[in-house]
Amino acid sequence: MTEKQNGMNIQWFPGHMTKTRRKIVEQLKIIDAVAEIVDARIPISSRNPDLNEIIAGKPHIILLNKCDMADAQKTAEWIEFYKKSGIIAIGVDCKSGKGLNAFKDSVKTALSEKLEEYRKKGLVGKPLRVMVVGIPNVGKSSFINRISGGSKAKVENRPGVTRGNQWFTIDKELELLDTPGVLWPKFDDTTVGEHLAFTGAVTDRITDTELLAMRLLEELYGKCPEKLTARYGELECTNDGYDMLCEIGKKRGMRMRGGDTDTERAAAMVLEEFRNLKLGRITLEEVDKNA
Ligand code: G4P
Repeated sequence: MTEKQNGMNIQWFPGHMTKTRRKIVEQLKIIDAVAEIVDARIPISSRNPDLNEIIAGKPHIILLNKCDMADAQKTAEWIEFYKKSGIIAIGVDCKSGKGLNAFKDSVKTALSEKLEEYRKKGLVGKPLRVMVVGIPNVGKSSFINRISGGSKAKVENRPGVTRGNQWFTIDKELELLDTPGVLWPKFDDTTVGEHLAFTGAVTDRITDTELLAMRLLEELYGKCPEKLTARYGELECTNDGYDMLCEIGKKRGMRMRGGDTDTERAAAMVLEEFRNLKLGRITLEEVDKNA
C-alpha cells in the first residue's frame, strides 16, 4: 500500500511493521507498561492486530480516546469488557483533557505488584516507564502533549535507552516513551478500512467519497436508524445506500444542472456531518455480547 492509498502520510510496506515490531521489542525490557490508545468509536479497527503478541504480557492499559465522540454507554461497556479480560481501560478525550487525571492511577493499579517489589527492594523514587502506542491519527500526540503539559522531549543518554527515541517526563513518578516506529492498523480488512475512513483516520482523497458515504449510511441505518432520521427526516429507500444518499441530497436541495441530485456533494456532506457529530455521538464497534 502506498502513501496515496493509506492517506496516513507515511509510505506503507510490510517492512515498516517488521521494523516497528523490532523497535518495540527492543524497548520492552526497559519499560514497565504499555499504554495503548484506541479510538473509542472503533476500538477494534483502531488497533494494531499484532500488538498483544508483540508486547508479550507487559502490563497493558487501554485509553479509549475521542470518547467525546463515542456513545458514552458503549464506552462504559468496552471498559467493562477490558476489565473482565484483566486490562485496565479508561475513557479519555485528549482534545479537552477530560478523563486524563485517571491515567496515572490506572498505571499504578496496573503495576501494583511491581511497585510493591520496588518498595521491598528500597527502590523508592524510581519512575515508572510507560510506552505509548497507537495507530496514526488515534490521538497519540494529543495525549502526550496534554499529559506532559507540552513539556519537551527529554534527551536520553542512559545505557539501554535507544537514542532517537522520544521520552517525556510527566513528573518524578512517571516517564513516557513515544512509540518507536509506526504502528499500523489491519489495512487489508475491508471493515477496518471503512471504519478508519468513516472516522477520518484515513483521508478521503484515496477513497471514493460516494461509495464511502453509501456504506456509512447503510451501516448507520443498521445500527442507529433513529440518529439518521433525526438528522435527515424519515427516509423511504432504506435498503440501499445509494438511494439513501440520493434522498438526502434531494432533501437538502443538492441538484446539478439538468436536475439530477448531486450525490458527490451529498456524500461529502454526510461524511462531514458524521465526523462533526451532527448525527450525535456514535460508536460503530460494540462489544460482542455473545463472545
Ligand atoms: P496521532 O498523534 O495519533 O497521529 O494523532 P493526533 O494527536 O495528531 O490527533 C489526530 C486528530 O484527532 C487531531 O485532529 C486531534 O485534534 C484529534 N483528537 C485527538 N484526540 C481527540 C479527542 O479525544 N477528541 C476529539 N474530538 N479529537 C481528538 P486534527 O483535525 O488532525 O487536528 P486539530 O483538530 O487538532 O487541528
